[in-house]
Amino acid sequence: MQMTVIGCGYVGLVTATCFAEMGNRVCCVDSNAKRVDALQHGVAPIFEPGIEPMIQTNQRAGRLTFSTELDTACARSEVIFIAVGTPPAADGAADISQVLAVAARLAACLEQPTVVVCKSTSPVGTACRVQSILDQHCQRRGLSWRHTVVSNPEFLKEGAAIDDFMRPDRIVLGCEDPHAEAVMRSLYEPFVRNHDRILSMSRRAAEMTKYAANTFLAARISYINEIASLCEQLGVDVEQVRKGIGSDQRIGHHFIYAGCGYGGSCFPKDIRALLHMADEQGMQLPILEAVEQRNQLQKTWPLRMLQRELGSLYGRTLAIWGLAFKPGTDDIRDAPSLVLLDALLAGGAQVRAFDPAASDNIAQRYPEAVKKGQLQLFQDPYAVLNNADALVLLTEWKQFRQPDFHLVAQRLRTPLLIDGRNQYDPQAMADLGLRHVGVGRQVAPPASPVLREVV
Ligand SMILES: NC(=O)c1ccc[n+]([C@@H]2O[C@H](COP(=O)([O-])OP(=O)(O)OC[C@H]3O[C@@H](n4cnc5c(N)ncnc54)[C@H](O)[C@@H]3O)[C@@H](O)[C@H]2O)c1
Repeated sequence: MQMTVIGCGYVGLVTATCFAEMGNRVCCVDSNAKRVDALQHGVAPIFEPGIEPMIQTNQRAGRLTFSTELDTACARSEVIFIAVGTPPAADGAADISQVLAVAARLAACLEQPTVVVCKSTSPVGTACRVQSILDQHCQRRGLSWRHTVVSNPEFLKEGAAIDDFMRPDRIVLGCEDPHAEAVMRSLYEPFVRNHDRILSMSRRAAEMTKYAANTFLAARISYINEIASLCEQLGVDVEQVRKGIGSDQRIGHHFIYAGCGYGGSCFPKDIRALLHMADEQGMQLPILEAVEQRNQLQKTWPLRMLQRELGSLYGRTLAIWGLAFKPGTDDIRDAPSLVLLDALLAGGAQVRAFDPAASDNIAQRYPEAVKKGQLQLFQDPYAVLNNADALVLLTEWKQFRQPDFHLVAQRLRTPLLIDGRNQYDPQAMADLGLRHVGVGRQVAPPASPVLREVV
């Protein structure tokens, strides 16, 4: 199929590349000329495991192209995906101006009936608004045909995006037109070969499904974080509780890991957007308000622990492992690292940090601190430890699971490990001479000097 994807970000790029991989001819359009130029040279503007070689293979095969020319790309397309950003507006609403601007451009340039797919996460009613923008234009021009708008929200996870797209749990199609539904089903058929995972529903239900899914996952995280904070007070290990509840099949083990809060481009903004949607209906959503509040508090957990353990942080040197909002991505939007960095830099601490992918984005966000040398970004995780008063783990990249703890203990000035992702065993860390502070966990007593010698 000949298709266009508008937006070469995390979602658009993965969508375009995966459809090309299945044999479709895809043009991916972006208004950011620098982004498009890099892509035309086979360079991915985002960090996503496996994306770059896949882009290059499909480019060489002539199935995947990149352009800034929306009109030319769309003219020949049977299906057009809109995958532009829907960032939060000042009042918390999802700002859908990019989606509407694209719809207006499409209305002006499309010369044949086309299936237009809203992939961006957008409030209930957005696909219908896009439909009416397109309809109005066709009516003004006296055309006898109309375009069809489908809502097809995306559920991929950054860091595992290709796998998620290639092997989706489900594909949600908000579609009220049999022809458009048939086109969409045939497009997705190669991704659901072993059993049908396509769920058809109304466009408004599809839009709501995306928000309900993300906010539900966020609620699970905030719930376990709340339980963890009570565990901290009561002397209970939340890891034992996590296993205890996760083995109940009705609960399951996913998304019940206590930590220093969720971030990213989706959960925080989608909660705010849903709260705003409710507000517009004169309603309150107290559960979601609490989810958001708990997360704000949770993001301050690393700072609170540092202050509890070290007192004033002014003039202290602190080491950080992990800056991305989650492993496998360079995305720092709403990341817990930003809350900690803001506080440490404002409070006069020195920060030495390492992240396998997100350092450039952090450097762009804190140019002054980097210039002054107050924030130093390293290529080597062990280099950050020198003369540091604590190591704070914020992102659970795999390489941090079994680091050289002896080197960690040796290099830190103060052997303090603030484990914001509960990656380490408190007693094992104590035996190595490290004071381990986990989320909802108890600090283990230090090993006896004899045992320390053995270790
Ligand atoms: N990132 C995720 O993990 C994820 C997952 C599921 C859904 N979503 C949703 O998908 C949407 C896109 O998210 P993202 O993370 O890919 O955003 P992004 O910011 O990474 O990418 C958006 C791209 O759209 C481009 N763009 C904006 N206006 C344009 C226009 N008029 N013409 C052409 N290009 C234009 C931007 O330059 C940018 O490259 C959002 O609604 C988001 O909520 C994101």
